[in-house]
Amino acid sequence: MQLQNRQTQNISSPKSYTHQDWQKGYESQPREFDYWIDDIEGEIPPELQGTFFKNGPGLLDINGDRIHHPFDGDGMICKIAINQSRAHFSNRFVQTEGYLAEKKAGKILYRGVFGTQKPGGWLANIFNVNIKNIANTNIIYWGNKLLALWEAAQPHRLDPHTLKTLGLDSIQGTLQPGDAFAAHPRIDPHSQRDGGAPCLVNFAVKPGPSSTITIYELNPTGEVVRQHSHSIPGFAFLHDMVITPNYCIFFQNPVRFNPFPFLLGWRGAGQCIDFNPHEKTKIILIPRDGKSEVKIIDTEPCFVFHHANAWEENGEIFIDSICYESFPSVDPDGDFREVDFDTVPAGQLWRFQVNLESETVQHQVIETRCCEFPSLHPERVGRPYRYLYIGAAHAPQGNAPLQAVLKLDLETQTQQIWSAAPRGFTGEPVFVPRPGGTREDQGWLLLLVYDAAHHRSDVVILDAEDLTPGPIARLHLKHHVPYGLHGSFTREWFGPQG
Ligand code: CO
Repeated sequence: MQLQNRQTQNISSPKSYTHQDWQKGYESQPREFDYWIDDIEGEIPPELQGTFFKNGPGLLDINGDRIHHPFDGDGMICKIAINQSRAHFSNRFVQTEGYLAEKKAGKILYRGVFGTQKPGGWLANIFNVNIKNIANTNIIYWGNKLLALWEAAQPHRLDPHTLKTLGLDSIQGTLQPGDAFAAHPRIDPHSQRDGGAPCLVNFAVKPGPSSTITIYELNPTGEVVRQHSHSIPGFAFLHDMVITPNYCIFFQNPVRFNPFPFLLGWRGAGQCIDFNPHEKTKIILIPRDGKSEVKIIDTEPCFVFHHANAWEENGEIFIDSICYESFPSVDPDGDFREVDFDTVPAGQLWRFQVNLESETVQHQVIETRCCEFPSLHPERVGRPYRYLYIGAAHAPQGNAPLQAVLKLDLETQTQQIWSAAPRGFTGEPVFVPRPGGTREDQGWLLLLVYDAAHHRSDVVILDAEDLTPGPIARLHLKHHVPYGLHGSFTREWFGPQG
């Protein structure tokens, strides 16, 4: 796969950021806060009401012992409750078994999937497959439950008002101890099999020499209404999924898992993944009816963490995904804070067109700018769509930290960008539709932006119709929030009671 930035990334140009500024956004935030945000630039639109939840690693060290990779950091939930142009902030760590045990012991007790080792070298880690459920990847409100998700284990349920951890959740008895529930559910806004009612579609993977994928579909009260499992040949590292009305779609990246260094304590499991550029990526299409045949179709070797969207059109399936030319592997001896962006592949937006009859795939690059964390109008999930919003690098070429938000008009092939460079760092924008809006881009983008100049974070609200004038409101927090992963918005108000 020849990517355009390969040829251009070595052209030296001044960087839009300093490495030192970027690194500061990975400082741990051990404190828990609760306050009304009183430092606001601009105005929060009065029609914007509800609660914005974010999840991400809050601790990047345990008592000074640095964890090896941010994906291993303990989950910390941020809640921004917005009502009548006012906003209330609070954050709490998910009280996982591992978080509580390490807090008590004051040191690292568990091995992380991405290479955090217990002190003591490989002897202390040998055959220790006791992985910590860190609940740090996503947070959703569904079926009157607030759930913190981590892909390799059961979700943790939290009180949406206080963020108090209530314990592991079994999804109304569906999940048994040891079962997983992925961090990337998709909400079908109008499920065909439920008379057009919304439904949450999620999955779980048991990887191995052959892997088992289980699909769960939950109705709005949180009850599992469909569940089916499928065995797939080969090791499957599946972080995300996309849906259409009829399919759940996965990309099985051409990676191999060698468990021995992990079992022997040399490496984290995430470091035992090898990318094979000579093997094809497999597109797995699992029919949502649970009965029809699973299709597996080969395409170009590439690596995907996140998909943007998918839809069906005239017997073909279209999939938009953030593609890397290889697995951005974790150096077992390096510190992620010291990463040289020029040596790591950048994510780019690709479109795959799958013909189900001929079982062939065509693909094209839609956007070459380095980007991650796509978001779209919730009514367009699984359907043809026009607008995509995504975290992006400031510069149009090369790999770099996310400092901007890009809006792509996929119909006119035009784009808008808002950049927080040089000292601001962005992440996932969450699209919130404007109540009563009729156009697909009528709404707001909510995101946390790390401001290195003040070592604090801002909640930024952008008008999704036009990003170019910059934020319509910037809510300055009193502290920083380490770079997060995924979040969601609910119209329910979970601010302070009384
Ligand atoms: Co993700």
